[in-house]
Amino acid sequence: MSRSLAVLTSGGDAPGMNAGLRAIAKVGAARGLQVVGVRDGYDGLIDGRFEPLTRPGPGAKGWVVEDRVEEGAGRGGTWLGSARCARFREAEGRAQAAARIEGFAGLIVLGGDGSLTGAELLSKLTPTPVIGMPASIDNDIGCTALSIGVDTALNTIVEACDRISDTASSHHRAFIVEVMGRHSGYLAMASAITAGADGALLREQGRSEEQVVDALVSAIQGAFARGRKRVLLLKAEGVTIPCTRLVRLAEARLPGVEIRGTVLGHLVRGGAPSHMDRMIASRLGLAAVEAVLAGATGEMVAWQPTAAGGVRTGDPMVGRYPISRVLEESKALLDGSSAVTRWRVRMMEELEGVLGV
Ligand code: F6P
Repeated sequence: MSRSLAVLTSGGDAPGMNAGLRAIAKVGAARGLQVVGVRDGYDGLIDGRFEPLTRPGPGAKGWVVEDRVEEGAGRGGTWLGSARCARFREAEGRAQAAARIEGFAGLIVLGGDGSLTGAELLSKLTPTPVIGMPASIDNDIGCTALSIGVDTALNTIVEACDRISDTASSHHRAFIVEVMGRHSGYLAMASAITAGADGALLREQGRSEEQVVDALVSAIQGAFARGRKRVLLLKAEGVTIPCTRLVRLAEARLPGVEIRGTVLGHLVRGGAPSHMDRMIASRLGLAAVEAVLAGATGEMVAWQPTAAGGVRTGDPMVGRYPISRVLEESKALLDGSSAVTRWRVRMMEELEGVLGV
């Protein structure tokens, strides 16, 4: 078996990807592997743009991790670069990518749903083991309780909401804060709890525009009636009614109430990874290298202590799941048929009563 391991980061970057790269380089080097990064996701793989993450150790014995890998680990984004690669969606692009990793000990792919779909397709085209690691701030990936980046994104949102609360309560205003999560309301739901919000608006609740405005108006009225100095509502990006429109519609029904909207957008995706994200990325990185060395392919390592099914690893928090199953569960998470989504919506409904008290 070749002693080179490749790794790439793909799709929307997530804080903790760099910590994952460091873990893979360190564990790989400790297991006698040369580790190379691929620039800009699948784009760089198709073009063969490799970059060493390790160099030969003293006396040309073994491998040591390059300084920039160590130095980058505490930074947000991905220093290797990422892309949403159109060429890889074509069979020709995938065949070129598969040829590039021929003879490698394995390829590890850090990314979200689209990137994992790519990893699964690639694993069918090559005998080289291909292993995925879940990385997306949206927490919309199946079979894993958390993905790399979620914890940092939540910390950023909560800090932003605390700041907004300072100014909101000074002026007795209501604020709608929109957070990322293309199809998944997880970030809005979880941060509504920890930021002490008065409600959350999620796509998964399946409300019409009229129902969204009704929910908003009643949350604002109820909170001010209970003597709240400020009202804070978290809105998921998946609720496609723009904040500006919601503000206008709600103000029209609440004369004398000042409402403001803030879209946090990409601010939530950047920033140094939290301890938790570095830890998750590091332990998943270890499991991913071990999966490659065990000859597994088409699997994803997951932060999942409880689910049945997957292959257990030496880490009680980490399991391995076929990517095909991960993708099925991701789809169910988003179309509402997953028990996890149903539980999230039910919890949100119960919480609406509690948040507003
Ligand atoms: O998937 C992560 C995510 O940050 C989503 O929450 C968001 O909708 C999307 O990426 C934004 O993508 P882009 O950075 O390509 O605009």
